[in-house]
Amino acid sequence: MATDLVLAIFHHFLAFLLASVLATEWTLIRPGLGGRNLALLGRLDAAYGGIAGTLIAVGILRVFFGLKGWEYYVYNTMFWAKMASLVAVGMLSMGPTARIVRWRKAATDPAYTVPDAEIETARSYIKVQIVGFALILIFAATMARGVFY
Ligand code: HEM
Repeated sequence: MATDLVLAIFHHFLAFLLASVLATEWTLIRPGLGGRNLALLGRLDAAYGGIAGTLIAVGILRVFFGLKGWEYYVYNTMFWAKMASLVAVGMLSMGPTARIVRWRKAATDPAYTVPDAEIETARSYIKVQIVGFALILIFAATMARGVFY
């Protein structure tokens, strides 16, 4: 019971943290990005990877050490829908991450600002990521309640 509770608390905490990092990235990636905001974005994106990795690890622990037992999840379609959305969001995050690394390298010139066309592309990736994140939340709640097995 205590293990389940502690894992659930961490899982929620990390999910909200990930959402806030994603929202901050969305706010920072806009025309004129450069200098300190670009450096901040680089640090945030590294944090995004760390938080996502920890969230996934805690999720896996919940499957095995949660109150319902692993059998509840492996035969639950909504669990697999959640996992598929998670993989899609992970893949979608690779485009912006690769760009951010490239922008940070180009920013050795303090006057550097990211070209508008690149900003647009990165924003469109993040927009779809936000939709994917919303789906994960919908599937999580549906899976937890055993709806649509
Ligand atoms: C971005 C990644 C993730 C987010 C945002 C997320 C979000 C959530 C949320 C909000 C809940 C609470 C659902 C509710 O009680 O209504 C939940 C529950 C849960 N999640 Fe995740 N999750 C993520 C990744 C994972 C992963 C990778 C796994 C396992 C491989 C996992 C396994 C679980 C389990 C076992 C529960 C407990 C459901 C229950 O009470 O039966 N999650 N998740």
